[in-house]
Amino acid sequence: MSRYLRCAALLFIGAAAGCEPVQVPQWSSSKKLESLENAEHRDRIVAGLASAFGTPLLPNRPDADDAEREHLRLGAEVYVKRCAQCHGASGDGAGPAAEFLKPRPRDYRQGTFKFTSTPYGARPRREDLVRTVREGIVGTSMPSFALLPPTELAAVIDYVILLAERGETEILWAAYAEAEEDLEFDDVYQEVLDLWRSGAESVVRPLTVMPAMTPETIELGRQAFLSEGCAKCHGADGRGKTQDNVGTDVWGFPTNAADITAGMLHGGQRPIDIYRRISSGINGTPMPSFRAVFDPAGKDPAAAKNPDTMWHLVHYVLHVANQRRASLPSEPSLSAPRTTEDSPASAASTRSGQASAAPERGG
Ligand code: HEC
Ligand code: HEC
Repeated sequence: MSRYLRCAALLFIGAAAGCEPVQVPQWSSSKKLESLENAEHRDRIVAGLASAFGTPLLPNRPDADDAEREHLRLGAEVYVKRCAQCHGASGDGAGPAAEFLKPRPRDYRQGTFKFTSTPYGARPRREDLVRTVREGIVGTSMPSFALLPPTELAAVIDYVILLAERGETEILWAAYAEAEEDLEFDDVYQEVLDLWRSGAESVVRPLTVMPAMTPETIELGRQAFLSEGCAKCHGADGRGKTQDNVGTDVWGFPTNAADITAGMLHGGQRPIDIYRRISSGINGTPMPSFRAVFDPAGKDPAAAKNPDTMWHLVHYVLHVANQRRASLPSEPSLSAPRTTEDSPASAASTRSGQASAAPERGG
């Protein structure tokens, strides 16, 4: 029988028996765990993870009650339907569509997220993930899920956090085992939870109140862009086409310095979003944190430069980003910014009609 006929026959039998071939999602192991030579350690980790986190469609969390398990189950359903084709069932960023996408969908398993309101290297706050999923990431394939019912949105976010915690626990536990450190699940998981907890408590506030955006502040920003090393990666024209612009991200893929003239800032268009990109850098990528250069309360107060320069850089980035997007002469495309932007909560976009002008959700 030809292969085609055999498949057709199997399908027919399946259909006749009332059992459609369904694919049950599986959580695959990380390379770190697979490369562990000691099979006994490997089995213990696999068993420990399964008893703590359940399965893709019946997820669990240590200490979860019934309501929480139900919530995670809804999250799993939404995830499998709407996210797994890109982010993979395990959250490894390697779903069937992933290899055709640039940038690649996020691999959650290192707990590394790019567009956060927390300092460099910290875990994101839950609100950061909510914002990304609601608004999507402009200029990438990550869609906006603003139309998801709120319960589904909340559930899928918690499922993503579960996938991250599970992945981090697995990788960390395997690293300990590799170093012949015999740890229990609880110790490793606690370490991961502590990272998320300290991330949740460490929101980045601007060093100063945003000054009014004027041609002078834009010009000061342009000068800082050239003198603080931004141009080294982004190019003097901000288009990111320099020789130094290619690096590798922590997920192992080549990356480019953003073309900031493209009008598609991935982390949001509000001044506070751009401020946080410059202040905290972009986790997992070569974009460095500049906080220390301007923070008078930092390690070297005497050496700290004028903290307002961070806002000047924001103004310059906004100016350059708006210019090409509006394809208008530069000045009219700039609407007056708020001068009272002293906290993220009062941050508003300088552009009208942008989803990103929505106030930050708290909680
Ligand atoms: C069509 C592909 C696609 C789908 C579907 C998709 N994503 Fe994404 N997602 C991406 C890409 C690509 C990125 C990385 C963008 C980048 O690195 O700038 C991403 C990034 C993310 C991030 C990381 C943001 C950060 O700060 O690092 C989260 C969280 C996320 N997606 C959640 C989801 C959830 C939840 C769903 C389903 C409800 C989903 N995504 C569906 C492609 C997708
Ligand atoms: C070592 C190289 C490097 C330097 C130096 C650097 N950047 Fe970046 N920058 C990057 C890379 C890489 C990205 C893209 C990260 C990503 O999203 O994958 C980026 C992204 C950005 C973005 C886009 C953020 C978004 O939301 O999409 C802005 C704005 C930016 N950089 C501003 C600056 C400014 C201002 C400076 C100087 C104070 C600077 N960069 C210095 C490498 C660099």
